[in-house]
Amino acid sequence: MKYMTGNEIREKFLKFFEDRGHLILPSASLIPQDDPTLLLIGAGMAPFKPFFTGKMKPPSPRIATCQKCVRTGDIENVGRTARHHTYFEMLGNFSFGDYFKKEIIPWSWEFVTKELGIPADKLWITIHTEDDEAFDIWHNVVGLPEERIVRLEENFWEIGSGPCGPCSEIHVYLGEERGGGKPTCAVGCDCDRFLEIWNLVFTQYNQNEDGTYTPLANKNIDTGAGLERLASVLQGKPSNFETDLIFPIIEYASEVAAVEYGRERKTDISLKVIADHARSMTFMIADGILPSNEGRGYVLRRILRRAVRHGRLIGIDKMFLAGAVDVVIEMYGHVYPNLVEKREYIQKVIEMEETSFLRTLRQGSELLSDEIAKLEAAGATVLDGATAFKLNDTFGFPWELTAEILEENGMTMDKAGFDAALEVQRKMAREARDDKAGRPVIYNTRGIDIASLKVDEAADTGKIVMLYPAHDAQPIENAEDGKDVAVILDVTAFHAEGGGQLGDLGRITAPTGVIEVENTKKLPDGATIQIGRVVEGTVNVGDAVTYEVNSCRKSDIARNHTATHLLHAALKSGLGGHVNQAGSYVGPDRLRFD
Ligand code: ALA
Repeated sequence: MKYMTGNEIREKFLKFFEDRGHLILPSASLIPQDDPTLLLIGAGMAPFKPFFTGKMKPPSPRIATCQKCVRTGDIENVGRTARHHTYFEMLGNFSFGDYFKKEIIPWSWEFVTKELGIPADKLWITIHTEDDEAFDIWHNVVGLPEERIVRLEENFWEIGSGPCGPCSEIHVYLGEERGGGKPTCAVGCDCDRFLEIWNLVFTQYNQNEDGTYTPLANKNIDTGAGLERLASVLQGKPSNFETDLIFPIIEYASEVAAVEYGRERKTDISLKVIADHARSMTFMIADGILPSNEGRGYVLRRILRRAVRHGRLIGIDKMFLAGAVDVVIEMYGHVYPNLVEKREYIQKVIEMEETSFLRTLRQGSELLSDEIAKLEAAGATVLDGATAFKLNDTFGFPWELTAEILEENGMTMDKAGFDAALEVQRKMAREARDDKAGRPVIYNTRGIDIASLKVDEAADTGKIVMLYPAHDAQPIENAEDGKDVAVILDVTAFHAEGGGQLGDLGRITAPTGVIEVENTKKLPDGATIQIGRVVEGTVNVGDAVTYEVNSCRKSDIARNHTATHLLHAALKSGLGGHVNQAGSYVGPDRLRFD
């Protein structure tokens, strides 16, 4: 087998399928478009679901890509095994009602044996138990002996609801010395003696929301080959982490920590976690994800914080992630140019989160060590939920981290107790918010030239002039996600509450954070103030922002406003000029005329 770099394998794959009539598309964003069933793109086929189901027409019936993927289901295993990653690249070719098994099976064999040069006698095939058609092609067309084609019930691929079907996998035999040394070890076992390198899915069903299956109108092909896995085989490495697609980040981290890779298992795990997570966070932020406490933003926050913590575990006590990002961009910038364009931005987002988390970590780790010592002294192994919650709520120490650290010490956390404490706290916060909402805050606008603030209904950009905690009159410099805030912009299109009419809602997007606007009011001095919550990242005074007013709602309010005037005129003409309006409610849902 000839050594091949990760870049060479990627190029070879795409060229091979381009030569066979495929349109080569760049990787889609990690953020799924119009697909609420997925948090992140985790397979090459995921961006193409509407093409498989026939909902949309593809730009070509044959497409091939190298798709950025993030999967975090097994995040705790990253670094502990040879192959678990959160970020990876998937090489894939797709047929939308075009070619099917009799084309893809011989092609995949040709690519693996001729283009990659993997010896045929090291390759094994699995097929679905009932897939005689696939067996026939592997056996009679490709010429593989019967004993190297293994039928497995689990060879059926699906990703939640959507297109799915039976599959056939190509495995490489890596040698007797690999894996756990079990005598029963065979194809399909997860032990690394046989490594799955390519999955060919014969996509012919749709899994409906209710879990039932409907045959698709067209038969399709969806294949996926993990680039890092192929690289590990062609570079003769014991794990994906030693390939040129990841190892430079390990080298960077070991240099910063002044530790050597390959000497101690615990250190190696931390180096691998940092390397894997550095790739994920770089690509996620480049695609527009910001740290937050929900959804994708939370996945990113968790990844970033785990990397910081593993840095601490191997003795790094300073900021180091921006340097790791440089290494990732050095390796991937030519394939994914948005990394280069957004370098400064990615590093800024990471540095803000790293700084705040380092602070949290120092404090929380000490407190948790004390708790662990107390448990040890008492001969106990379960940390109570209330203490875990206090660490989380008062000190911002993530509960997953508490659970992980406890596990490293042979202990566990009372998760049910934690959840109960969280629920009590949420209820109290809701009540406090309702209470505070009743009392107007007169924000301190000293120092701003009110006359220079503009209201322009057509505008969609501006600058943050002042920022306040929503329930506090004194200004602040910045606010991170989860915080309720009030914002004054130099130019705003948000219409303030007044004369019975509700204030506008919408979203303000800053370079490193997003505010969901939940109300707009006017201050006594005439300044318009947007009140809401930071839902992602961090926002700062001085940030240039873009914004979007919820225009459907605004139009509904405008219509009800017009209706109020029409009603007033009709009442006057019908009942007489003495009719007067003494109050009203004008909302998107209805109007009331007092
Ligand atoms: N969609 C298939 C997979 O992810 C190819 O394995």
